[in-house]
Amino acid sequence: MVKGLKGLILAGGHGTRLRPLTFTGNKHLLPIANKPMVFYGLEHLRNAGIKDIAVILGPLREGFAELVGNGSSFGVNLTYIEQPIPLGLAHAALISKDFMYGDPFIMYLGDNLLRDGVLPFKRKFEREKLDCVIGVSEAKDPTRFGVVELANGKVVSLVEKPKHPKSNLALVGVYVFGPKIFEAISKIKPSARNELEITEAIQQLINDGGKVGFEKVTGWWKDTGRPEDLLEANQLVLSGLQPQSYDLSLPPDAILTGNVVVGKGTKFSGKVRVLGPVIIGDDCVIGPEVYIGPYTSIGDKSVLDHAEIENSIVMSGVNLQSGKRVTDSLIGSSSVIKNADLSLPRGYKLIIGERSFAQI
Ligand code: TTP
Repeated sequence: MVKGLKGLILAGGHGTRLRPLTFTGNKHLLPIANKPMVFYGLEHLRNAGIKDIAVILGPLREGFAELVGNGSSFGVNLTYIEQPIPLGLAHAALISKDFMYGDPFIMYLGDNLLRDGVLPFKRKFEREKLDCVIGVSEAKDPTRFGVVELANGKVVSLVEKPKHPKSNLALVGVYVFGPKIFEAISKIKPSARNELEITEAIQQLINDGGKVGFEKVTGWWKDTGRPEDLLEANQLVLSGLQPQSYDLSLPPDAILTGNVVVGKGTKFSGKVRVLGPVIIGDDCVIGPEVYIGPYTSIGDKSVLDHAEIENSIVMSGVNLQSGKRVTDSLIGSSSVIKNADLSLPRGYKLIIGERSFAQI
């Protein structure tokens, strides 16, 4: 058992690829199956027995500490560390050095979702007495990720977003580091995009004779950098949704089929069809004339009437009266979508930020 294994969750960065949703809020608070994204990482670290966790936060922090708090609701102790400018993953690790106080730690990129959590990484690190464990997963398009080259079962090179990748093994956003990583980071220089790259730091660790192992991720893994990734992550989590034992008073014309989870205080009226997997939050008003199709999440306090929606994330407090079907969409919290003429419906694809209004 490694003494004092700590956690580090990265929740800084710009989140440029998720604009406009990240103009107003931290991307790690965006909901996946009605749960803020960062909660998944926190729960994984907690489930691996980690108690002391630092969270890296950039300028986009509104509402973060209010929602996540000091960690007591997760059974962990959280410490916030400021990173005013996102100077890279290795920079985020470096500024946690005092917090780590010589202890090893699991670094978890807050925008990554992994079905099977971090325990296999921790076990490998402990069992083989390594200086670092990286996670790898076979990717269709490795050029979007850090790419890992193996030879004879050993990690030989890591390159960030290579044009000509040497393998299809993408670097997953979970790493275990011993204290030697800090020395390696101190030796590297910012890259062309002015970031201290974690791939370069690990390469430095290898060059210095550090022991770097890898863990192949077998369950699904999702890096949620782009809007389509959020929808895919939502699908992956919803596909594991457990059926709810209903205590719902449904009107006769409301039919819920498949795995559908409904929060407390949510009311249905008139003709409603819900085809799971679907999660509906608390205190929503659904109906009349509503269809909610597979892989949809509806946030708390949302109102849907004369609406059809499928494979989408609807955040909290949304008012949706779309008429015709909305698919593959991300709808920011407190937005209003109204169909000017319900008798002339069309199909829509929407990516809408917080507190928006669209008349369609
Ligand atoms: P990235 O996806 O590389 O960057 P980003 O989140 O800023 O997104 P974009 O490229 O769309 O602008 O970051 C990976 C994770 O690490 C993410 O959870 C944010 C976090 N991060 C930090 O906490 N500090 C940093 O300096 C960087 C670069 C990222």
